[in-house]
Amino acid sequence: MGDSWVDSAERIGADLHLEPAGPGGRRAALIRALREAVRSGRLAPGTRLPPYRSLAADLGVARNTVADAYAELVAEGWLTARQGSGTRVADRAAPLRRTERSPVRAPARARGPRHDLLQGTPDASSFPRAAWLASYRRALQQAPNEVFGPGDPAGRPELREALTEYLARARGVRTEPGRVVICSGFAHALRLLFAPGGAGLRGPLAVEAYGLGFHRELLAAAGVRTVALPLDEDGARVDRLGRERAVLLTPAHQFPTGGPLHAGRRTAVVDWARARGGLLVEDDYDGEFRYDRRPVGAVQGLDPDRVIYIGSVSKSLSPAVRLGWMVLPERHVDGVLAAKGEREAWASVLDQLSLADLIASGAYDRHVRRMRQRYRARRDRLVEALADRAPHVEVTGVAAGLHAVLRLPPGTERSVLEAAAAQGVALDGLSAFRHPSTDLAAHDGLVVGYATPSEHAYGAALDALCRVLSSAPAPPRPGPASG
Ligand SMILES: Cc1ncc(COP(=O)(O)O)c(C=O)c1O
Repeated sequence: MGDSWVDSAERIGADLHLEPAGPGGRRAALIRALREAVRSGRLAPGTRLPPYRSLAADLGVARNTVADAYAELVAEGWLTARQGSGTRVADRAAPLRRTERSPVRAPARARGPRHDLLQGTPDASSFPRAAWLASYRRALQQAPNEVFGPGDPAGRPELREALTEYLARARGVRTEPGRVVICSGFAHALRLLFAPGGAGLRGPLAVEAYGLGFHRELLAAAGVRTVALPLDEDGARVDRLGRERAVLLTPAHQFPTGGPLHAGRRTAVVDWARARGGLLVEDDYDGEFRYDRRPVGAVQGLDPDRVIYIGSVSKSLSPAVRLGWMVLPERHVDGVLAAKGEREAWASVLDQLSLADLIASGAYDRHVRRMRQRYRARRDRLVEALADRAPHVEVTGVAAGLHAVLRLPPGTERSVLEAAAAQGVALDGLSAFRHPSTDLAAHDGLVVGYATPSEHAYGAALDALCRVLSSAPAPPRPGPASG
């Protein structure tokens, strides 16, 4: 019914606060209240007023009182009455005083760079809209009524079951649905783990010397001190773990430098956790996207009691979906659920069911396979184009993931970023990811999100990047890690 009288009646009934015995009687009070509502903008131009009878019933006045008040306000020009469309607030009865607002501006993105190579998002134009819609429709059709209730903080059983099967098959994760907790993504999972009471994780937390600043800030805001672990060509130096009780790693694909954690270090970190009664928090943010070999499985499979495994759909589908999962050692399940609250307040239950259907129907696997091929082709184009047009630039971290790291000579990162900005190319420098207190030597480089543009925009973005780099200076030394 759009702006039906029902809406208006509710607003008027609730907002007018008539004084039945006010000066001049009820008719005058109603006129004053309506006039004030129009003048102040509470009733916007065009708003349809309720029929006499309903407003009279709502306010406990006679029908004629309302009819008279409307007639008076029509005569004054505040309202209009037209056959068939009822009584409405007149268009010219705009509020007398409006708060000055700053002019509407085009969103920043519209004025943004022409070539978006910022890491962080998959190709937004490839979101599997049709498959998601089909899953959503099926999920909605089959959902029992209890789905529309407040929800269980553990997440829908359908999704926890689908994930248990999928993660075992695709990522080597060993679990059962009771240990899976649905959340809104990795960032949410971190908040839950370090919330008071949560999984009971206490700082300091060891993290990789290069990582996402946003996650470090989030941890700092939760009162967690992070300690930087150096990186080398085999990944994080887990032999440097000290008195910490927990370590956060990206073992399948170090973020952002790009190599997998060496097999020996995977077992070493699990041994460390066993010996210390500690925990590995495993961020498996893009584990499905490995191009040249079989995917590196999750470390969680080595010891499900010593690893908290976290994944999300942010790289496989879109960060807009806000769905993720934690696979927990049994002793941490209750604490995390308590931190999440009594009801599902984070992850839409309908989206959870939709994702469960997407996975169970095989559409999720098909999408990931399709995107893997597409990103591999883009990665190949990037490597070939740079070999051809900027051969002095070393491309690393390209065996997996949605971004590459281009090594630059020391001291040149800033000027190359400035040149990129001048060409309308948006990307990050490697230094943006460096832990502020690491003693690891700074390495200059670029982090290129080659998955970010749509298919049709990728060629032009690559071309612009090559233009920037073809004039960049001489080759770098080997970096802290490569893939
Ligand atoms: C290192 C890393 N971890 C995790 C994520 C996923 O974060 P979220 O699930 O909160 O979107 C990302 C970004 O997608 C990331 O870059």
